[in-house]
Order: sequence, then C-alpha cells, then structure tokens
Amino acid sequence: MAKGTSSMSLSSLPLTLICIAYFLFSPPSATVTAQYDVVSLGAKADGESDSSKAFLSAWSSACASSSPATINVPAGSFYIKSATFDGPCRSTVTFKIAGTLVAPSDYSVIGSTDNWIIFHQVNGLNVVGGVLDGQGSGLWACKASGKGCPQGATNLEFSNSENIFVSGLSSVNSQMFHIVVNGCQNVKLQGVMVSALGTSPNTDGIHISQSKDVTVLNSKIGTGDDCVSIGPGASNLWIENVACGPGHGISIGSLGKDSQEEGVQNVTVKTATFTGTQNGVRIKSWARPSTAFVRNIQFQHATMNNVQNPIIIDQNYCPDDDDCPHEASGVRISDVTYQDIHGTSATEVAVKFDCSTEYPCTGITMEDVKLTYRSQVAEASCENAGGTASGSVQPTSCL
Ligand SMILES: *[C@@H]1O[C@H](CO)[C@@H](O)[C@H](O)[C@H]1NC(C)=O
Repeated sequence: MAKGTSSMSLSSLPLTLICIAYFLFSPPSATVTAQYDVVSLGAKADGESDSSKAFLSAWSSACASSSPATINVPAGSFYIKSATFDGPCRSTVTFKIAGTLVAPSDYSVIGSTDNWIIFHQVNGLNVVGGVLDGQGSGLWACKASGKGCPQGATNLEFSNSENIFVSGLSSVNSQMFHIVVNGCQNVKLQGVMVSALGTSPNTDGIHISQSKDVTVLNSKIGTGDDCVSIGPGASNLWIENVACGPGHGISIGSLGKDSQEEGVQNVTVKTATFTGTQNGVRIKSWARPSTAFVRNIQFQHATMNNVQNPIIIDQNYCPDDDDCPHEASGVRISDVTYQDIHGTSATEVAVKFDCSTEYPCTGITMEDVKLTYRSQVAEASCENAGGTASGSVQPTSCL
C-alpha cells in the first residue's frame, strides 16, 4: 500500500473489492444448477444404439461446471457399452436417472474388464434413481457349463472417491459383483435394490473394501452370492434395515487370502432380515497366515427365516473344498457382539464359531439370541472361541 493513503480509504477498500467480486462472479441466483440432458447430447432410448459417448459428454460438461450440475437421463432404455466417469470435478454432480441403462448382453464385450460403469476420483456425487441392467445371464451360463469364461464385469463401482450419495438405484443381473465401493470415504447408499438369480455366481450385492464411513440403509438385496460383503481395509460401516435373500448373507470377508492385508473394524449391522439365505451374519477367513484382523463388530436385531447358517464365524473358509491351504488362520477376530438375533435355522447348528487354532476369537458377546430348527432349540458349536453370553441365549452358548 502506498505511503500517505488515508485511513478512510484503507478500511473501505476490502469492502469495495468484495462488492465488485460479488457482482462479477456470483451466479444470478444461488439455486441455479447447470442441467445436461443425455438425449439432447445424442443418447437414444432405443436400448440398442450405444449411448456411451453422449453420457460421457454430459459428464465432462457437468464435471467442468463451476456450479452444481445435474445430468438428466429420461425414461427409456439406454444401451451403454461401458463408461468411466473420471473426476475430480469442479462442483457436485447429480445423476438423475429415470430410465434403464443396459449393458452388452454378449459377455465377450466387457467380460474381461473389471467394470461396466465406474466413477473414479470423484468428490461430491449424487446418483438418484435408475436401473442398471448388467445382462449377466449369458456369462452365468458359461460359468455353469465349466467352459473357460471371463471373470465378468462389476455393474457399478465407486473408486477412490469421497462424498458419494446414492438413492433409489436398482442393479439387476450383473455379470459379477453388483455395486463396489473401493478406496472411498463418506459414502451413503440408500433405498438400493439388487436383484439376480440365487444361482448366479459371484454376484455379490454391495462390496465394500478399503473404505471408511460407508452407510447402507433401507435396501433390498437378492442375489447369488453375499448380499453385502466387506473386504480388507473397511472401517466405520453402518448397515441398517437390509433385507437379504436369496443370497449368502452379510459377510465380513473373506479375509486373509494375502499374508499382508488390512483389517476390518467398527462395523454395525442393525435390523437385517435374511430369508432362505445360505448364511445370516458371517465372518470368514482363509486358513493361512495373514496380518488382517476383524474387531469391534455389532450385529443387532436380525431376523432369520430358514437360514442355513444364521450365525457363523468360519476361519477355515474353503469354497468348493478346492485347493485350500488348511493352515491356521492369522486373522485375529475380537469384540464381536450378537444382540437380539432370532428366527429359524434351516440346519441343526444355528450358531457356529470355528475360529483359528493359533488366534482364538476373543470378546464374543451373545445377548438375547433365539434360533430354532424345526420348531426345536437349535445347536451351537464352538472351536477356539471365547466370550460371554447374557440374557436369554438359545441355543445355549458354547463360549
Ligand atoms: C464407528 O463408526 C460409526 C459410523 O458407522 C461412527 O459414527 C463412529 O464414530 C465410529 N467409531 C469410531 C471409534 O471410530
């Protein structure tokens, strides 16, 4: 500031600058949102013309917008060969989907890629509504025939992203996992529907790994593998009001496949209903050395309807009994609470804790558990499991 400037102009200068800046740069109204319509950008609701380019062009405009932007997908069926939506974006982007996005039905098109639709490095995204149809049945049939088939693509992945809010989205018939959250923070999935055949292979509903602060609310998942699966490096998860079936239940793991692996901690599963599923609430690890751990887990208020393994910890996880290590699991499991778990088991053993011979499970708490098998009290089985039971616990605790 030049010498001799009066004290009067010194104090009013900042205010003047703020006023000028306000008139130059503020939008006409704070509520204005940039709008992009995929159809006006060339997408066709005919279910067969590839609309990927139109979607990607809507994304690049929305992502470059300095004010919050909305991409509108109207009703109808849009064929998307594959789409990668890359961030970072300048402002929050909202995908409003009234229609259905359809994947290639020929699995050779994307079956060897990891994802059909992926959001990568995005901070601030809303996905509202929409149906994602993975058309996976061709690949499932290939896998069932025992031919050499590609692994298959995930319907939808959020990768290395933050502040993601998904509501009212349906994912059907994915080739592989339906929805994956990996490397993310602060993700909320609400009112999500997942649907695939109970016999479809590896079609996990929602898979969460390497992520923090993830909430799944009010969702309905029926599929051929885990309804929700939780992988290495997941912490602070809240899963509430989920209906699961058909499927393999809500699973932490499998963990310990690798010797150097991150653990899972602070997971709450509250008010879940399991119907005709292979498992209810499960923790599973491979039987081999690993640095992974599972701790501070709450399973509260679950209803089991004819579930094969309502409560299970399996540290000798060995799918299809095929080529498994059969060593002691290195995964340390501690502080797991089962509270108010009730309903029917489809097998005699409703509670099974099969923990590591080298690192027994510690701090297992059971409170108000009532599981029956054919209208009789079911059985519990414990190997290397320690903890306490309180309230009424049936089958009688073996901790
Ligand atoms: C555990 O996770 C919940 C969210 O599910 C979070 O609110 C809470 O702060 C976390 N607790 C700790 C100790 O990190």
